[in-house]
Amino acid sequence: MQRVTDYIKQNYDRYFQELREFCAIPSVSTRSEHKGDIQRCAEWVANQMKSIGLENVRVFPTAGHPIVYGDWLHAPGKPTLLFYGHYDVQPAEPLALWQSPPWKLTLRNGDLYARGVVDDKGQVLMHFKALEAFMKMQRQLPVNVKFIIEGEEEVGSENIYKFIHREKDLLTCDGLLVSDTTMLGKGIPSVCYGLRGLCYFEVEITGPTTDLHSGSFGGAVPNPINILCEMMAKLHDKDGRVAIPGFYQDVRPLTRTERKELKALPFSEKRFQQTTGARQLVGEKGCSTVERIWARPTLDINGIYGGYTGEGAKTVIGSTATAKFSTRLVADQDPATISKLVRKHIERLAPKSVSIKFTIHSEGDAWLAPFDHPLVQAGKRALEKGFGKKAVFIREGGSIPLVAMMHNEFKRPCILLGYGLPNENAHAPNERLNLENFQKGILSLAYYYDEVSRVDDQSRGGRNPH
Ligand code: BES
Ligand code: MN
Ligand code: MN
Repeated sequence: MQRVTDYIKQNYDRYFQELREFCAIPSVSTRSEHKGDIQRCAEWVANQMKSIGLENVRVFPTAGHPIVYGDWLHAPGKPTLLFYGHYDVQPAEPLALWQSPPWKLTLRNGDLYARGVVDDKGQVLMHFKALEAFMKMQRQLPVNVKFIIEGEEEVGSENIYKFIHREKDLLTCDGLLVSDTTMLGKGIPSVCYGLRGLCYFEVEITGPTTDLHSGSFGGAVPNPINILCEMMAKLHDKDGRVAIPGFYQDVRPLTRTERKELKALPFSEKRFQQTTGARQLVGEKGCSTVERIWARPTLDINGIYGGYTGEGAKTVIGSTATAKFSTRLVADQDPATISKLVRKHIERLAPKSVSIKFTIHSEGDAWLAPFDHPLVQAGKRALEKGFGKKAVFIREGGSIPLVAMMHNEFKRPCILLGYGLPNENAHAPNERLNLENFQKGILSLAYYYDEVSRVDDQSRGGRNPH
């Protein structure tokens, strides 16, 4: 191991250069004008895979963006890890708020800045570099690995579902390895054992068939914006609970033990609040902040528009108003059931004077798993070796649709080793990744291969908790 970890430490500068190349490609999945960049990025990933010694590297086209696959399977009798990550990123806008250009990796005060650097390109590259170190120093890996890196995670991972059904044999594994989450805080390496699910909706309200003068018609016609605001205001009650009938019916409550465990975590509500810049924290009555974001379902309006939003004033009644909103789900809530309840409630709230158009954009399950599986415990030990600090088990409020899907499909444990920090501005301007976490993260992943190679067959097969 010494030679492997020395090699990693000697190559940090080159890793920076490679990450810089990776981040220079604006692989924004949601915008069609970036189709060429997405393709270029997939090819960059494929070339990277070949250069570090992965075999059978292929770029699989899909109905949307390509999936890149590679493997190395020459460790007979050893576990097979399937690594999943994504090379697509969120749009960089608003550009004016970036302190350095989003597509130019910049090191400032110990942090690496670029769009996608933490979500998820930096974390993907960490895995490549850990693997490369073994291949260079030992000409082999201590375990078997398969990699799938997709280009549609930020838009709901639709096409990879079909890919996985089709290529089930290609993807068989003992565990799914993902690095696309955060640590509880700086110096607190964390293994994640739960993610929330997500249902995303849009509702459009139409009142008059055309925009109208608000003097001539105001007070006599249904104003879709007034009505939409009223409807949206009814989605929560005064205790901060979601007021959709049946919304909580299947929620798996926290056990008393887990509540105690969450309470014991070194999580600072104060620091969390400061990260947001808000004057105070709010949420469901009777729950702590970590409970609210990790273990309770929530509903948020993500965008609302209609009427006049340009410069100055315009006295108008807009013909339509639209809201985009989404629910984060927890264990045992069924996304399809939730979507039905939400639709029914929205239809009931809408007055007869308007028409509504309701759209479901995406639906994804929550994921929650026990963390006593040997491949998960190996992750904790590897983090502790890489960071020289005690590791903790956490959940996340965010969603990675593929994790629940793979878990249901393959009945294998998922090992989520996240290297981001909660204040690193994923999806926002000035996205960053702490350089020290990037470097120690690579070391910890090298240790992970080593730890996994010592997880024996019996405990691997026999103790799968599902
Ligand atoms: N890496 C995130 C998921 C995440 C977010 C993990 C926050 C930990 C904390 C992922 O890239 C993401 O943004 N997921 C989307 C899913 C959606 C687009 C289907 C999300 O959570 O909004
Ligand atoms: Mn991500
Ligand atoms: Mn993301």
